[in-house]
Parts: sequence; C-alpha cells; structure tokens
Amino acid sequence: MNANEREQLIAAACQVRELAYAPYSRYQVGAALLAQSGEIITGCNVENASYGLTICAERSAVVTAIAQGKRKFTALAVAAPAGGMPCGACRQVLAEFAPNLLVLIISADAPEQVREVSLTELLPLSFTPAALSNKSAF
Ligand code: THU
Repeated sequence: MNANEREQLIAAACQVRELAYAPYSRYQVGAALLAQSGEIITGCNVENASYGLTICAERSAVVTAIAQGKRKFTALAVAAPAGGMPCGACRQVLAEFAPNLLVLIISADAPEQVREVSLTELLPLSFTPAALSNKSAF
C-alpha cells in the first residue's frame, strides 16, 4: 500500500462511518478494505431493533467485497469512536480471506491518530480454511 492508497483508505473509512445505521448504540463504525486490485470496498455497521441481528462495519465490508468478486485484501481501515478495535467475530471473518491483513485503527474523533496492527496480532493462532483440508498447524 502506498501513501496515497493509505490516505484514501483512511478517508473512505471515515466517510462511510457517517452512513452507519446505529440508532440503538449510537456507536457508528466505518470500515474500508483495500483489495489487491487497488479498489476500496466500504462497509458500516447496520443495527436492528432485534439487536442480535446487527452486522458490524468490518463484516459488512467483507460481504460487499465478496459479492463484487474481490477476495484478496492487503489492508483494512476501521474508524470508530475512541479508536475501537474490531470485535472477535470480525477478526475471524477477516482471517478467512486475509490472515496477514494490515489493520489501521482510526479514532473517529481524532482521525490523524492511526494505529497500525496486523490481523495476526489481533487474532493469533487463528482457525483458518487450512485446518479443514487437514493441513497441520504444528
Ligand atoms: N461494531 C462494529 O461495527 N465493529 C466492531 O468490530 C465492533 C462493534 C458495531 C456493532 C454495533 O452496531 C456497535 O458497534 C456497538 O457494538
């Protein structure tokens, strides 16, 4: 990812966050995935009156990308209040497609503050599709 892509990715996450549907938690999250093609795919959290049906921003971005035929990703930017981290379910869904993904955490209130982590740090020793084809993890 070059500096321009990085800047675009961060801006996309902050922008899509504004579209989040979060009337219950009031916690709006935006996510932007950088595909290997260079394209950016975004997602936001979408809550529901039946609370458990809520989809997080990160998973929303992943499902949109898959439906667009994109399955390879190099980076993800997440914009949330106070720099909130991706939840466990989203980490697992991201690991399916990009176990070594670079994750940029943006504090929505101070977008110049960006924390870089890798998905392997967020989800070490993850369960991946390799396990289903009997590839040894030892
Ligand atoms: N949320 C996300 O969008 N991503 C995460 O990784 C953590 C949580 C959303 C779900 C819900 O709409 C709100 O944040 C509060 O949990």
